[in-house]
Amino acid sequence: MGWPSRSKYSKHLFMMKSSTVAVHLPETVPLSRPHFRRMLARHGSVIVKPSNGSGGKGVLFVSRRGRACLIQSGRSRRVLRTVDHGYAFVARQSRHQIIQKAIPLASVNRRLFDLRVMVQRKRGGNWVVTGKLAKVAGQGYKITNVRRSSGHVVPLGTVISRSPHLQTAALRSYEKRINLLAVRAANRLGVHYPGLRIVGFDMAFDQSGRIWIIEANFSPAVSLFLKLKNRAMYRTVMAYKKP
Ligand SMILES: Nc1ncnc2c1ncn2[C@@H]1O[C@H](COP(=O)(O)OP(=O)(O)O)[C@@H](O)[C@H]1O
Ligand SMILES: [Mg+2]
Repeated sequence: MGWPSRSKYSKHLFMMKSSTVAVHLPETVPLSRPHFRRMLARHGSVIVKPSNGSGGKGVLFVSRRGRACLIQSGRSRRVLRTVDHGYAFVARQSRHQIIQKAIPLASVNRRLFDLRVMVQRKRGGNWVVTGKLAKVAGQGYKITNVRRSSGHVVPLGTVISRSPHLQTAALRSYEKRINLLAVRAANRLGVHYPGLRIVGFDMAFDQSGRIWIIEANFSPAVSLFLKLKNRAMYRTVMAYKKP
């Protein structure tokens, strides 16, 4: 198909093979003019991003405004006159891009957030969730990548207790659902990437508390966990990395 095997799109297709994981994946297709039109008509808001990107680079939030099309990148916004002008604009940025349904992310203090969930295995061992945290975007940003959005990280319990979109009392149940989904998705990826030992999932809560997988990172930055006051998860992740 021409997609590099570690591209976001290839990982998406592999995770789609598990029906229990598939229901937690936002619809994702390769960028083309007909796909762009269809996805915008169907979802109203979509994300366009490079299939090999990282760090939030080139992540565009696109939404329909009547016949026009609003495109947000970082904190800057521009309106393109028609959907076709919008397509021409996003298609310019790079060759291999995907379009994904935009998840209406839950927020805390009016800032959007998503989660980083670390799953690891020893050679021949089972997948284990070794760390979780919330990445809170800077004010006005649609992406949560800490550096690119002037964001910050906090423990999962903090966002769950403070987000108007989530139920404080359900912390344990959210955690269980996240763990189960992360292990199932890692199991699926492990089938296709036999040497894989660590996956850092970007997961998200939408505004009704549903859990989604945004992407699977195969070289996740452990340093994110150094930004938490409590170093316990950082130490667990580091310990698991050892052969
Ligand atoms: N489908 C989506 N719905 C809502 N937000 C998204 C979506 N895709 C990406 N984002 C936001 O953009 C950030 C970066 O996108 P991601 O797919 O993780 O690419 P990268 O490899 O650049 O980190 C995500 O952490 C999330 O905040
Ligand atoms: Mg990411």
